[in-house]
Amino acid sequence: MSAVIQLQHISKRFGGLVALNDVDFDLQEGECHALVGENGAGKSTLMRILAGIYTKDEGEYLLDGKVIDLQSPADALRRGIGMIHQELSVMPELSVAENVFLGRQLTNRFGAVDWRRMHQIAQAELGNLGFEDVDVRLPLGTYSLGIQQVVEVLRVILSGARVLIMDEPTSALSHSEVERLVQLVDTLRQSKRSIIYISHFLEEIMRVADRVTVLRDGKKVATLEKQATNVNHLISLMLGHEVNATLPPQIDSGAKTQTLLDVDRLSSDVFTDISFSVQAGEVVGIYGAVGAGHFDLARALFGMYRYDHGTITVEDRRFPRTFSSRYAITHGLAYATESRRKSLLAEEPIFRNITLPHLFRIGRLFPREKRELELSRPQIAAVGVHPDDPFNPVGRLSGGNQQKVAIARWLTFPPRVFIMSEPTRGMDVGAKSEVLSMLREFRNQGYGVVVVSAEPETIIAASDRVIVMSRGKITAQMANHQLNKDTLLRLL
Ligand SMILES: Nc1ncnc2c1ncn2[C@@H]1O[C@H](COP(=O)(O)OP(=O)(O)OP(=O)(O)O)[C@@H](O)[C@H]1O
Ligand SMILES: [Mg+2]
Repeated sequence: MSAVIQLQHISKRFGGLVALNDVDFDLQEGECHALVGENGAGKSTLMRILAGIYTKDEGEYLLDGKVIDLQSPADALRRGIGMIHQELSVMPELSVAENVFLGRQLTNRFGAVDWRRMHQIAQAELGNLGFEDVDVRLPLGTYSLGIQQVVEVLRVILSGARVLIMDEPTSALSHSEVERLVQLVDTLRQSKRSIIYISHFLEEIMRVADRVTVLRDGKKVATLEKQATNVNHLISLMLGHEVNATLPPQIDSGAKTQTLLDVDRLSSDVFTDISFSVQAGEVVGIYGAVGAGHFDLARALFGMYRYDHGTITVEDRRFPRTFSSRYAITHGLAYATESRRKSLLAEEPIFRNITLPHLFRIGRLFPREKRELELSRPQIAAVGVHPDDPFNPVGRLSGGNQQKVAIARWLTFPPRVFIMSEPTRGMDVGAKSEVLSMLREFRNQGYGVVVVSAEPETIIAASDRVIVMSRGKITAQMANHQLNKDTLLRLL
């Protein structure tokens, strides 16, 4: 094997913050090199330097043994280095083939767009990657997130990339889609392409990677052959200490008396006949694959998705058939959505993102900023946002720290029932266990919590009781002590 890329002594600062400090990293031909580390460790920053998005402050960047200086992402792509971002840049309304050739259509010898050839190539290339069942003439939006990601990978490959950077590629994928992505990485490796793979799912890392590099606080801690490490070892390197990421199962106290949320035969176009209740001091997990309808159910409980039949009752108040999110907030509900990028305002400071859902309570009179700061400071500390400057725009935080802000905003005026979709998505093991402890704390204080997730690990670690949904219906209910990952996956 030969080194395609070598980064030597890379440093990068943002103002006073040292994001990368003297980091070495190399990538061999045909290898999958994983990058792991806590939220804010510097993983995405290092990859953005590699892909020409950020410029390095110090250090050398060698491509095929020669020093280069990237000018832009387009420059990186011309040299064969492409990045698949977590927010996919595909166009769902356009066909699969159009997406594959986005920005560089093929023309025939008369200069006209050559659809036939683009269709043929796209279909054949998808087949090579193991996705012959995809029809390239259909709109990309008809396919799952997993397929959309494959199309993005193909687009980057056909633009000439031999190095592919994947930054948390699986964080929004279902279990079976993750399996296909893992296979895709294998296929790419066999065709001599090199992959850099960032993920917080360490078991996944142990499957896909040939080598793993661990970053901590902007410094490289180690680069290891996969055979020379294991999940627990990686965790201790990432954090500098051991951590218990899956908390021990709950002991059911039995005497649950007060019903905080009662959902009775709720139906919509995507879920049918959903009934369950949440008691004070209980965490109820709702588990299902992406597309099972549980995320829309969560939205419906918060007035953000239309339902046609059934009732929602919070404490003793029966909600009207249609209600606003503000109504839901006022009557004791909070909802942290699974798509934090949509719920956060990247340009706005942390404190404003925290007070945003509560501005109607604070009032619009000026000066309200002082009040907003007073309200948000304790929450920033409570969830451990890092760095903790309330004036920092949320878009500058690492992914995991953005998620902490999304949760912190609901602690200002604690709800009776907290509904959270994918509460730990994108979080490192340390932050995950912090959020799980927070859930436990809410529960011990007598709140009801609903955790909606497609990740078996999250459901098992968080819930007292689990409801399984499949294709819009409840298919099983059980107590946490009856659960393990295999059982859950088999119930899908
Ligand atoms: N454009 C920016 N401006 C200011 N600070 C930034 C910027 N981009 C990143 N940072 C800071 O650099 C540090 C490293 O961030 P980075 O996004 O690389 O972390 P990460 O390892 O990818 O974390 P995560 O797992 O949460 O995605 C963080 O402290 C972050 O706040
Ligand atoms: Mg990141």
